[in-house]
Amino acid sequence: MNNLNRTWWKESVVYQIYPRSFQDSNGDGIGDIPGIISRLDYLKKLGVDIIWLSPVYESPNDDNGYDISNYQSIMDDFGTIGDWEQLLYELHSRGMKLIMDLVVNHSSDEHVWFAESRKSLENPYRDYYIWRDGKGGQEPNNWSSFFSGSAWELDEVTGQYFLHLFSKKQPDLNWENEKVRREVYDMMTWWLDKGIDGFRMDVINLISKVQGLPDAAGDGTYNFGGDYFMNGPRIHEFLQEMNREVLSKYDVMTVGETIGVTPEDAVKYVGEDRNELNMVFQFELMDIDSGPGGKWNVQPWTLPAFKSIMSKWQNEMYGKGWNSLYLNNHDQPRMVSRFGNDGELRKESAKMLATLLHTLQGTPYIYQGEELGMTNVKFDSIDHYQDIETLNMFKEYCDAGHSVHDIMASIYSKGRDNARTPMQWDTTSHSGFTTGAPWLTVNPNYTQINAEEALSDPDSIFHYYRRLIELRKQHDVIVYGKYDLLLEQDERIYAYTRTLGEERLLVVLNFYEMPVTFELPNTVVCTSGEQLIGNYEINKGLDLQRLELRPYEAQVFKLKIKP
Ligand code: NOJ
Repeated sequence: MNNLNRTWWKESVVYQIYPRSFQDSNGDGIGDIPGIISRLDYLKKLGVDIIWLSPVYESPNDDNGYDISNYQSIMDDFGTIGDWEQLLYELHSRGMKLIMDLVVNHSSDEHVWFAESRKSLENPYRDYYIWRDGKGGQEPNNWSSFFSGSAWELDEVTGQYFLHLFSKKQPDLNWENEKVRREVYDMMTWWLDKGIDGFRMDVINLISKVQGLPDAAGDGTYNFGGDYFMNGPRIHEFLQEMNREVLSKYDVMTVGETIGVTPEDAVKYVGEDRNELNMVFQFELMDIDSGPGGKWNVQPWTLPAFKSIMSKWQNEMYGKGWNSLYLNNHDQPRMVSRFGNDGELRKESAKMLATLLHTLQGTPYIYQGEELGMTNVKFDSIDHYQDIETLNMFKEYCDAGHSVHDIMASIYSKGRDNARTPMQWDTTSHSGFTTGAPWLTVNPNYTQINAEEALSDPDSIFHYYRRLIELRKQHDVIVYGKYDLLLEQDERIYAYTRTLGEERLLVVLNFYEMPVTFELPNTVVCTSGEQLIGNYEINKGLDLQRLELRPYEAQVFKLKIKP
């Protein structure tokens, strides 16, 4: 066992629900909490332990709930606090846990704090947000927003600008203000006292800004100011305070979304002696296909680069802090379209990627529909898209003279709506998601890809996930074993071992759409192996020294080590 303590959240599998797109119960075209409750037996069957619920709080939905106007109330579209309490009860009674999204880098501009704050320079809430005078008729600095344009908005009422790293309806909270921190801690305590099991913390490494808010380097009109707000000067002080005041009083798990962190940074957030967070979501793999122009400047990725990122995190966090493992979420394209093959070999490649997700060290996070092998979507016109990031980018790039054809190609690969099309439950209209008109069009492939079909096919991706989750519960080596990469430079095969004491697993993954031969390096000493799971049948008595791998084949063996 490595020197990290055993805990329930290391041994668990998390499933993320994006409530707007999960299951509608009242025909308004928007998923809701009663809808989620009606699908809990499906999740129990899958075997996941923890549900992470993307925001369900009151919100004007400029960014689908990531713009919160009341942190202690449920959005009408999603139901009532009574529905939410029922959900928590139903989860707990099935032995599952619930973690809530905590979005406190910013609020909605419709939050009462902001409504007050903007009223006057003297308002008691003024300092809850980050207000500055303009400079020579321009914004206070040149920072760009993550959602295009400037990160500042002029407010006519007082003639000052407020900072918004995301949309202009998401003003950044001022964490320098002790009262803001107190409000957040009280609100967290309120939810924890209701019995929740933890938080996923939205862009939590952006809450501390370098005072003086200096201009960012770069020659654009607006430039990325990350140096002045990622892992800022007081971030660890704030998180340690939050831990002391709130988290340390409960047995809960936390995962912080942290943009631009290295393993060295991550250890500062999650080191077990740090008293901050349990895990972070890092972005290195998610950036693998971004070119110099950023996310929309899509570049091909290579397997050696992929393995080098994964291995870096496996090795550098080992014994120091716990990894989170994810291949997609509500902000990312669908994993099978991005890293696998969403055509003929969809099932094989989705299972191969699932094998990777569940056999690395860290806690796996499954995003809704991933267990069905749901794919990206290609709507023929921008009018079908809903995501604010995509729509703002479309406008900005059109204004800058890019062709609509090129912009749509970037959206097809990277747009967030790829992940947000409604869950595909069955072959009835709108995939059984709603009886009304869905807020975002269902992916037309729901007639082939849906839960009903997956549940009835013993060889489905769903059942493969279920077996992987089960396997993790049976073998400590999957959770706690040390990772060692094999065949570092191989462009088609990703292979590694996991070792815990006398137990060793060999994981072999063909990332290629053609057969390839795997030869076991002689550094791995073993006589034979027993197959634990694989996405193709395998002959008994096979020769582990040399395996002919079929397209996207994945195999996990328990090795017999030579005496
Ligand atoms: C990260 C969230 O995952 C994303 O959906 C959101 O738009 C931004 N943070 C802003 O809250």
